[in-house]
Amino acid sequence: MQEFENKVVVITGGAAGIGFAMAKRFAAEGARLVLADINEDGVRQAADDLAAETGAEVLAVVTDVSKAESVQDLARATLDRFGAVDVLINNAGIGVSDSTWDTSIADWEFTLGVNVWGVIHGVRTFVPIMRERGEEAYVVNTASLAGLGTVPTLGAYCASKHAVVGLTEALHLELRVLESPVRAAVLCPSFVNTAIFSNSEKMRPSAGSDLEGNLALYDEFMKRGIGGGVEPGEIADLVLDGLRKNRFWLVPVAEDFAQSQTRVDEIVEGRNPEPGPIDELLAQLPELERPE
Ligand SMILES: NC(=O)c1ccc[n+]([C@@H]2O[C@H](COP(=O)([O-])OP(=O)(O)OC[C@H]3O[C@@H](n4cnc5c(N)ncnc54)[C@H](O)[C@@H]3O)[C@@H](O)[C@H]2O)c1
Repeated sequence: MQEFENKVVVITGGAAGIGFAMAKRFAAEGARLVLADINEDGVRQAADDLAAETGAEVLAVVTDVSKAESVQDLARATLDRFGAVDVLINNAGIGVSDSTWDTSIADWEFTLGVNVWGVIHGVRTFVPIMRERGEEAYVVNTASLAGLGTVPTLGAYCASKHAVVGLTEALHLELRVLESPVRAAVLCPSFVNTAIFSNSEKMRPSAGSDLEGNLALYDEFMKRGIGGGVEPGEIADLVLDGLRKNRFWLVPVAEDFAQSQTRVDEIVEGRNPEPGPIDELLAQLPELERPE
């Protein structure tokens, strides 16, 4: 897909972070935007800011991606306003940490509900609309490097993101088998400097447990890593460039993939995964800003 002028781009989780950065990037190309987010005030404000800043046509739709009806309402609102959908970015996501055994049922359901069911509802609702139109279109699913590798204390998040990678690969292959003009891509960023953990904690249904021993260091590693991550605008540039090159894998930094490469080597060579030197990893990251 080369041109984005007047294209209709729907972004879930578009009120903040990576989603909002992608919206800005597509607006700069002349696209028309639909921002869908569960944060009602946030999505309206984001749409107003985006329209004022870029002059783009922007529609805000309050959406809970974990609910099929809500995603169907999003599709209806998009078609009512713009008549078509060219790009869907299933980007809404949350992340909470805990050991796999202490993660509450409510936290498992919360994580899989937003991160996996959100993408499933997006694909089930929008792909038939795109296929019926029969023109070039793109579905981008935001997974994570945690969908290609694994981190202690992020079992639910990793499970959800591995699922997104798997379902997006299947989607891509099915569309290729049918020689469809609709394409799929999966975005797998490493650390990106957003408020994902605090945003997720506000919506989290349970308090989580106290992490035992060195597991607490992995939680610290994730939080400090996010603070020291790349800016969301860099990810937006990568996505736009990837769509222009008809890419499936949108993986920001080649070095980030090293951990996943190690995982493949372990599988091939029959070695077991090892947790690695967490103290050394932490030493490379900025300190967390802690309240006084
Ligand atoms: N920040 C990172 O380091 C990082 C790394 C890899 C992948 N990701 C993924 O990128 C995506 C965006 O994350 P971010 O870092 O920009 O976080 P963010 O918290 O800044 O933005 C996520 C947005 O999704 C919205 N959202 C949450 N639940 C929703 C729901 N049920 N329905 C609709 N909207 C909902 C939030 O309100 C928020 O506006 C997520 O899928 C996340 O897993 C983030």
